[in-house]
Amino acid sequence: MPTPARLHVAHALHEVFGEGGRVPDIWDRDLGEDAHLAQALLGLCLRRWGRLQAWVKPKLKDPDRGVPLGTRVALAMGLAQLAWLPGVSDHAAVNEAVELAASRDLGFVPHKGLVNALLRRAAKDRAALAAELEALPAALDRGPATERALKEALRPHHAEGELETLWARLQQPPRPDFRRLKGELPEGLVPVAGLPGCLCLDEGAPFPRPWLEASGGMVQDRSSQALLAYRWDRPVTRVMDACAAPGGKTTTLALRHPGAAITALEVHPRRAARLRQTLQQRGVEAQVIQADAAEWLEVCGTTFDLILLDAPCTGSGTLQKHPEWPWLKHDDLPRLTGLQRRLLAAAGDRLAPGGLLIYAVCSWLPEEGCSHREWLEQARPDLHPAAVWPAAMGAAQDTEGGATAVFRPHPLTWEGEGFQGFAVQRS
Ligand SMILES: C[S@@+](CC[C@H](N)C(=O)[O-])C[C@H]1O[C@@H](n2cnc3c(N)ncnc32)[C@H](O)[C@@H]1O
Repeated sequence: MPTPARLHVAHALHEVFGEGGRVPDIWDRDLGEDAHLAQALLGLCLRRWGRLQAWVKPKLKDPDRGVPLGTRVALAMGLAQLAWLPGVSDHAAVNEAVELAASRDLGFVPHKGLVNALLRRAAKDRAALAAELEALPAALDRGPATERALKEALRPHHAEGELETLWARLQQPPRPDFRRLKGELPEGLVPVAGLPGCLCLDEGAPFPRPWLEASGGMVQDRSSQALLAYRWDRPVTRVMDACAAPGGKTTTLALRHPGAAITALEVHPRRAARLRQTLQQRGVEAQVIQADAAEWLEVCGTTFDLILLDAPCTGSGTLQKHPEWPWLKHDDLPRLTGLQRRLLAAAGDRLAPGGLLIYAVCSWLPEEGCSHREWLEQARPDLHPAAVWPAAMGAAQDTEGGATAVFRPHPLTWEGEGFQGFAVQRS
C-alpha cells in the first residue's frame, strides 16, 4: 500500500486529469510531516505533466494507443521522484509507484509490470533521466489556453524569450504574502519593499501557522494588497464587497475604512458560511448576505460609496498557485464574462454619486477585464475612470500624471498573481 502522501497525490491527479476538477484547497490536510513531500510531488507532476508523458510515450510498445490514467499517474509520480526529488530513495520511488499501478481504483493492474520495468530502468541513472526530461520542450507542459493567457499577460506585444521567462517564473512554487491584523509579528516575516503592510517570509523561516490560526494575520497575495492600496480620500460610509468569500478583501476593506458599514455578498451557501465565520474570528464587523450579487443589488434600494467587485473569473492569473490550471477544461469563459457584465451593470447602478467602483479579476484575459472597461465606458457615461493606483501598477499607456485607473502590474517585474482591474467614479 503506498504511503498516505503518495495516495493523496494520486487522488489529486485523478481529480484533475480524470474529472477535470481543481485540486481542492485542503487536499493535503492531515498529512503532517509528509505534507512537504506530497506538495512537492504534486507540484512537479502537475507542472511537468506534459514532459513526463512525452518521455514515456516512445518507450511504449504501441505509442499511439491510449494509456489508462492509472498508468500515467503511477509513471508520472515515479519518474518525478526519481528525476527531481533526490531525498527519495530509488526503492521508495519505484516500489510505491508499482503498488499504485497495482491498485484497483487508482492504478491499472495489467500495467504493473510495465510501470515496474520503465521505472527500474530510469532509476539506473537518475541524473540522465532529469536531463532528458529537462531537454524536452517546456511548451509541452502548457496547453493552448495557457499559451494564450501568457501572451495576453504580456500584451500588447512581447520581446523574444519573454514568454518563456514568464513561464519559468510561474513554474516556481509560490511564496505566500501576508498581512498583519493584530498583535506582534512572528519571527521571519519581513516587509515587501514598496508595498506598505505587505509581508513575506524570510528565506528558511517557518510558515507562521499559529499566528494565522490565532487571526494575528492572514495570507493575502501582494496583488490583492496592491489593488486595495487605492488612493481615495473622499468620505466612505457604506461599503459593498459584492463577491466576498473567503473574505481576505473584506477584511482589508474593514481595516481601510474603520467605522464604515460593510456589506459582504456571496452566492454560495457554504462559502458564505465560511466567510461569516472568518470575519467573526478576525473581529471584522460586516453584514454577510448569501445572495446572487446582481439580483440583490437590483432590489436593495440603497447606494454605496465604495463597491468592490472582485468577480468570479477563469483564474488565468493564478497559474503559479494552481499548477493544474493548464489542464482544466477552459469551457467556462462565455458564462463567466456574461456573469461579470451582469455584476458590473448592477454595481454601477448602486454606486452613490461621487462613489468609487473597483472591478478586479485574477485573470489576464482581456475578455474578463479591458473589454468590460470599454463596454462600461460606452454604456455608462456617468462612470469616469478614477486614477487611484500609482503608475507602476498600470501599463504605460494607461498612466496619467503618475497614476492609473487601470490596475495591471507587469508580470515580468511584479511577483504577485496575475490581476487586472479598473476603477471608475460616478459623477
Ligand atoms: C474571486 S472570488 C472573491 C475573493 C474575495 N474577494 C477575497 O479576496 O477573499 C469570487 C467569489 O464570488 C463568488 N460569486 C460567484 N458568483 C457570484 C454572484 N453571482 N454573486 C455573489 N458572489 C458570487 C464566488 O463564489 C467566489 O467566492
